Amino acid sequence: MFELPKPKTIIEPFRIKSVEPLSMIDINERTKALVKSGYNLFSLPASLVTFDLLTDSGTSAMSNTQWAGIMMGDESYAGSKSYLKFEKVVSDLTGFEHVIPTHQGRSAEALLMNSMIKPGQVVIGNTHFDTTRANIENASAQALDMPCKENESSELEAPFKGNINISQLEEYLKKNHAQVSLLIMTVTNNSVGGQPVSMENIKKTKEILLKYNIPLFLDCARFAENAYFIKLREPGFEEVEVKKIAQEMFSYCDGALMSAKKDAFANIGGFLAFNDEKLAAEIRSAMVITEGFPTYGGLAGRDLEALSIGLQEILDESYLSYRISSVDYFGRGIEEAGFATVRPYGGHAVYIDAGKCLPHIPPHQFPGQALSAALYQYVGIRSVEVGTVMLGHKDPQTGEEVLAPKELVRLAMPRRVYTQSHVDYMIEVMQSLSPHLKNLKGFEFEYQAPVLRHFTARFKPL
Ligand code: F0G
Repeated sequence: MFELPKPKTIIEPFRIKSVEPLSMIDINERTKALVKSGYNLFSLPASLVTFDLLTDSGTSAMSNTQWAGIMMGDESYAGSKSYLKFEKVVSDLTGFEHVIPTHQGRSAEALLMNSMIKPGQVVIGNTHFDTTRANIENASAQALDMPCKENESSELEAPFKGNINISQLEEYLKKNHAQVSLLIMTVTNNSVGGQPVSMENIKKTKEILLKYNIPLFLDCARFAENAYFIKLREPGFEEVEVKKIAQEMFSYCDGALMSAKKDAFANIGGFLAFNDEKLAAEIRSAMVITEGFPTYGGLAGRDLEALSIGLQEILDESYLSYRISSVDYFGRGIEEAGFATVRPYGGHAVYIDAGKCLPHIPPHQFPGQALSAALYQYVGIRSVEVGTVMLGHKDPQTGEEVLAPKELVRLAMPRRVYTQSHVDYMIEVMQSLSPHLKNLKGFEFEYQAPVLRHFTARFKPL
């Protein structure tokens, strides 16, 4: 037997049984669509997008087993077989007794915040996702982020840039613990680039919170990607099964909430899981008014089947190895094509530092918007600006733009959807675009809504 070198080509650990045609439109059609949309990629019809990297949420390709499971959906209003199966899978993974399905992540957030927090309280996070923050604020509480120090630099290659800042947490709680109702640890930390949180950081956080009796919840939308990063990067976990790593992550927590549109390979769904009986009774009673009966929570029985299967499939290590290395491959390719990126690459997305790529466009002229418009126009990619358009706002007093800390563009990879040749093609066209970046122009608003303006804004090129 010969020993051959490890192949460089990343192969998708699946073969394709059903295909969906890509939209193969040309630059002239994309330019027209861009002008018509007011240069806002959220306003584009999906049929005019070749590579839809707007989000990895609800955009996964389901497996043949999941599609077969769809046919097994039990659509009984109460106590369906599909719910009992879902409950068992989630309990086995998380170790929690009460499992409450919801139609997506933000409905789990709304139910939890409305039951757990009182007006004026504080909810701490490593970094709250924007809907989590909105649901906390909607319950008249304060959402407080404590990302770790390493996260301040885009280039720093630290293994766990998603961590919470432990010393800041300790200091804050010494004085303010009485106001804090809850801590939510988001894995991976989406808002800072899909960066993982270490087991040590979760464990240490729990130890600190125990002193003050403050519960710890895991926002586990991307729990399997986080667990795989722990296996790759945290000493002592090299030989541990990813499922065991995930179970240990949950074991330090009092509960979990999940947008199952990510690491459950499903197009819709979410859940809450915890042990507190009183909280479960309260949420089950509240949810009937808006979400549905507690054994289906806004989902069809068939969705629960797809979720149960997806939550097990995601733990396949050959899949996770492909997932993490293919996002890394994309990130390296983009960097080599001449774009500054946020490093290391996250589990679900590559972030481009548009502020650095387009230094001639000042932040109040939206370099991220300029870059994402160009990526659509020239490459056919739909990305999302995560900079001043999304995170800034107009000061009501002075009328000036309040800027975001960084001007980023996120390219999120749907799971099992695009192949390596798609990725190679995107990198190749980006390389051709790179020398022209200096000629891109900024934007000004033609229309902006008072809240969540990035969804509906229209822009004028300068
Ligand atoms: N928590 C995290 C960490 C998320 O990334 C998201 C959604 C949610 C909660 C809310 O879940 O969409 O099911 O209601 N993130 C998507 C994204 C939208 O594109 O990153 P949802």
